[in-house]
Amino acid sequence: MKILITAGPTREPIDPVRFISNRSSGKMGFAIAEAAGHAGHEVELISGPVAIQAPHSVHVHTTAVETTREMYDAVAQRIGKMDVAIMTAAVADYRPVTVSENKIKKTQNEAPTIQLEKTEDILGSARDQLGFTGVLVGFAAETEQLERYAKDKLSRKRCDIIVANDVSRSDIGFDSDANEIVLFFADGRVERLPKAAKSDLAGKLVAVIEELVGK
Ligand code: CTP
Repeated sequence: MKILITAGPTREPIDPVRFISNRSSGKMGFAIAEAAGHAGHEVELISGPVAIQAPHSVHVHTTAVETTREMYDAVAQRIGKMDVAIMTAAVADYRPVTVSENKIKKTQNEAPTIQLEKTEDILGSARDQLGFTGVLVGFAAETEQLERYAKDKLSRKRCDIIVANDVSRSDIGFDSDANEIVLFFADGRVERLPKAAKSDLAGKLVAVIEELVGK
């Protein structure tokens, strides 16, 4: 299969030295890319800035991007040829409306206000704007009401699977090497994958997707 994976955070510049971003390490997305490559699938990995090494696999082609717009463009260019798209990236939801050309200096009295605008919703654009008809997998990082928000994302973004995890727990998620995930399927099935190394969960997720695609 041909599999596209987004991973890591995106970064939205405020000025030449500052940006808005988040705590995503990219570990889950990279682990899935590694597992899929290992299973012999052709992987296009599109990653925001991360501190971890790209998977060592001849089956994984990695593209580095920085902003949400760059990630969106990289996905738009490639998704048409894909059988599966797995969006693990923690995309910045907002970006500054204007990016200062020079470093913003401290003001004497008042604190500056940064005006924000919405970024492109990459996963949410896959079906309509980008016309993707393959298996679509989204992620939901929640701190409360996991099931309700995950199911909402599943239908709103027209996914086949939402992979949900509870990021309020300090022992799993974000920078951790372990995770615990719940898979919500479009047909109503729910599958819990108990706490395990991200590499193990990645292998299981790839197997679940292979089964869904029917190969
Ligand atoms: N996603 C994306 N592009 C965005 C935002 C999110 O592709 N601009 C994808 C993520 O990669 C993930 C899923 O959408 O697969 C997360 O869904 P979303 O509803 O955006 O989650 P949150 O950002 O947590 O949103 P909310 O504040 O509604 O929980």
